[in-house]
Amino acid sequence: MIVGIPQEIKNNESRVGMTPGGVFELTKNNHTVYVQSGAGLGSGFSNEDYQQAGAAILDTIAQVYAMSDMIVKVKEPIAEEYNLIKEGQILFTYFHFASSEALTKAMIKQKAICIAYETVEDEEGTLPLLTPMSEVAGRMAIQQGAKYLEKPVKGRGVLLGGVPGVAPGKVLVLGAGVVGVQAAKMAAGLGAHVTILDVNMKRLRYVNDVMPPHVTTEFSNEFNIRKHIKTHDLIIGGVLLKGAKAPNLITRDMLKEMKPGTVIVDVAVDQGGCVETTKPTTHEDPIYIIDDVVHYSVANMPGAVPYTSTMALTNVTLPYTLKLANLGWEAACKKDASLQKGLNIVAGKVVYNEILEAFGWEDVLA
Ligand SMILES: NC(=O)c1ccc[n+]([C@@H]2O[C@H](COP(=O)([O-])OP(=O)(O)OC[C@H]3O[C@@H](n4cnc5c(N)ncnc54)[C@H](O)[C@@H]3O)[C@@H](O)[C@H]2O)c1
Repeated sequence: MIVGIPQEIKNNESRVGMTPGGVFELTKNNHTVYVQSGAGLGSGFSNEDYQQAGAAILDTIAQVYAMSDMIVKVKEPIAEEYNLIKEGQILFTYFHFASSEALTKAMIKQKAICIAYETVEDEEGTLPLLTPMSEVAGRMAIQQGAKYLEKPVKGRGVLLGGVPGVAPGKVLVLGAGVVGVQAAKMAAGLGAHVTILDVNMKRLRYVNDVMPPHVTTEFSNEFNIRKHIKTHDLIIGGVLLKGAKAPNLITRDMLKEMKPGTVIVDVAVDQGGCVETTKPTTHEDPIYIIDDVVHYSVANMPGAVPYTSTMALTNVTLPYTLKLANLGWEAACKKDASLQKGLNIVAGKVVYNEILEAFGWEDVLA
């Protein structure tokens, strides 16, 4: 199969769909890989790195789309790319169709085979191609939170780890899923005192088993949240209700109960956030302040660490990319139920119910 890796042209996206290591595996399996010139630079990979791994470099994005049977990307195609997509071409990338009717209609029109990273689902019901980005965001949340706790950027002026003779900072983590556990681990590593809340007792038992004693678990309810926000310096929002908007666990009135300079990093911002006052921000302008509480709510946190994120993404996408290239999409999806769940639009037809529901469309579109 001919596999194409275009440069991401969405604003501020420095990740790339495949590392040179991924290219190496594909070419080893006798596939041809075309990489757009400069596509990997934002993630630290030069054209030479890709060439050494077996890829050929093409000058333009139009050439990459025109010459490839399958496009492997990071973000959904943007309007400028729509007309480059060929009928029957496989697109393997994050799409998030339910949040864009325009994108959905464009992909139907182009009659592409759209396999969405975010809906590939394994036997346990987890989303293996979303997990690494949650891992990145969870770990980054503490790094960002620690930074914004500094006084010059309006934080409380607390060093999370404390120093000998001074108590460490306190971190409250809402949600003990992938984001929450990674955040708790980083905060604990810095020496902070961590309280982690969830409604799922299984997750709390797991956290209790694996974390050091300065990470304590509690059940998530309004009473406990109101109690803890008064004493914690950094609050991480990592809750998720699958397929629904995140619940507002911290309401506007609660901000007044917090110490001035408290920092909230609401990682769940992409699902609406679990703090009433959350609104999406960007890496250029990541924070805003309400009632002396610093809010950090960047919707694409992994985009700031493209080197790590690109590697983490290729680690998990590559086995599926290889399957698609080796078998073709139909046989690959038939053989692999996880990949089958990734099929969203096939040759002009929506085959994923949630997309139809999101737009109130009655039936599979022809
Ligand atoms: N901003 C970013 O760049 C970025 C990056 C990656 C992920 N995310 C988002 O982070 C969020 C969390 O992702 P995840 O992978 O950790 O999800 P996850 O499903 O692994 O974990 C979510 C956890 O929230 C818990 N939860 C549900 N209701 C709760 C409540 N009322 N109180 C406390 N906990 C509750 C669940 O039991 C679960 O353990 C998602 O919205 C995801 O989209 C954002």
